[in-house]
Amino acid sequence: MNYSRITARSPYMEFAKLHSGAKYNLAASGVMNYPLADLPVRLEDLEINGPTIYGYAPLLERLAKKNGVSPDCVVAATGTSMANHLAMAATFEPGDEVLIEQPTYELLLSAANYLGAVIRRLPRRFEEGFSLNPQEVATHITPRTRLIVITNLHNPSGAFADNGSMQAIGEIARQVNARVLVDEVYLETIFDQPVRSAFHLGKHFVVTSSLTKAYGLSGIRCGWVLAEPELAQRMWRINDLYGATPVHVGELISVIALDNLDRIAARSNKLLETNWRELRSFLYSRTDLECFIPRYGTTVFPRLRSGDVDSFCELLQREYDTSVVPGRFFEMPQHLRIGIGGDPELTAQGLKRLAQALDQTRGGSCPAAKPSAEASQ
Ligand SMILES: Cc1ncc(COP(=O)(O)O)c(C=O)c1O
Repeated sequence: MNYSRITARSPYMEFAKLHSGAKYNLAASGVMNYPLADLPVRLEDLEINGPTIYGYAPLLERLAKKNGVSPDCVVAATGTSMANHLAMAATFEPGDEVLIEQPTYELLLSAANYLGAVIRRLPRRFEEGFSLNPQEVATHITPRTRLIVITNLHNPSGAFADNGSMQAIGEIARQVNARVLVDEVYLETIFDQPVRSAFHLGKHFVVTSSLTKAYGLSGIRCGWVLAEPELAQRMWRINDLYGATPVHVGELISVIALDNLDRIAARSNKLLETNWRELRSFLYSRTDLECFIPRYGTTVFPRLRSGDVDSFCELLQREYDTSVVPGRFFEMPQHLRIGIGGDPELTAQGLKRLAQALDQTRGGSCPAAKPSAEASQ
């Protein structure tokens, strides 16, 4: 994709929607769907129209409480996708510079491009465990940079950025009057300890997230932006130009989901623990893959030591009914992204099939070699 001219489409989304289907789907990055039947939703509690103006107060209150912020810092959005779009539209003008991590979630690039940004890149290196390096930010930021865009956990690698590096990046951004947009949709998958959003690090942080990835609730599109109140107001007004008013049934179900989030999180946590065990033993058994292994999240982004990843992914899908995301969608064509948020049985089977496909194309797996692991977080 050429990001030097405006293109109103997303190659990754087209792949995800049209070409990633398989019985053993390791291409998805979210926890498997949470069924409506497992939520205490009664038909008589739903209504088609409701008192939503700039947000539905009970939903804003819950999102504010969950994030430890005041409700006037919350903008409800149709998933993290619209949250990112609003955050970008409110923080830069066409022609402004936006510094975006590389590799990244492709939609962040497409959305910034569509909004007319001059895109500069912030490298996150495989050799450094895809960590965020404030020195790199200092190197690539300019006085014309208005926004720095980061994912935490990092999509595709799952790497976690701690508050120390975030704070250092925030300080560099502040010096040129830029903001830092942190997409925290995968931070929600850290269930075993409290995690503080980067929003609390200062006024120039803008955070986006949703209930999509960690809870299997994509269909209710419960997303949000956290921003200082004046900026939040700007986003509400920009949102008037898009959907203007959300689906009220979705807002009502979002409130119920937020009231039952501990239960939903427990199910995700259990599922991910099981799938992580499978994934680790798969990765430890392969020497044809080099991998940074994060401690949390739903994805890893190994490098295939040799061979063509695109043809490998095609073979995997065609002959093994298993899908992963080819690294070209993350501008690293020698890598592939493996997602482990699916049903445990299907995920285990998918990993077995991935191993078989690797064996078929490389002539057998070699003795175990320990990939580099994320030491401490
Ligand atoms: C980093 C990142 N942000 C946002 C999204 C989209 O999230 P949502 O479904 O909440 O719109 C994705 C989906 O893959 C993602 O990886």
